Amino acid sequence: MLTENTQKLILDLQKQYPERRSALIPALHLAQAEAGYLPLEVQQEVADLFGIDINEVHAVVTFYDMFYEKPVGKHVIHVCKNVSCMLRGSDELLQKVCQHLQVAPREVTADGEFTVIPSECLAACDRAPMMLVDDKVIGPVPIDDVERILAEAKEKPGHISPV
Ligand code: FES
Repeated sequence: MLTENTQKLILDLQKQYPERRSALIPALHLAQAEAGYLPLEVQQEVADLFGIDINEVHAVVTFYDMFYEKPVGKHVIHVCKNVSCMLRGSDELLQKVCQHLQVAPREVTADGEFTVIPSECLAACDRAPMMLVDDKVIGPVPIDDVERILAEAKEKPGHISPV
């Protein structure tokens, strides 16, 4: 259940666009920032606030890597797997991150700290191979730096996680 404050923020957001449905993506970010992820109940609440069908919301949530339908850890690591990064070793990078954290892609580590998400192009191709660590672009990432980068991430607050 979204708080009254988040509902109000979403309704205010809608007023900033000629078509209120144009505010859907930033509204979903607000909802996710509060709930930690976007289960169907939250998607339904957002759909109700927009007066649209939940299927429209679901289509957006499942299209973008930045929205999570399942709970994620406190720190989310997006490893780009698209062409530029792939050509510069992103497969090895993803493998190393998952191996170090002992977790499969999209799962949550046993301590609830991390989720690793293989992602499409994250618009920092000049920094390939790159990853987003709690929304911060890091790259090019030498494989040997992975442990240090993850240790530093763990020291930071991360985001709300229901795990
Ligand atoms: S291909 Fe990796 S950021 Fe574009």
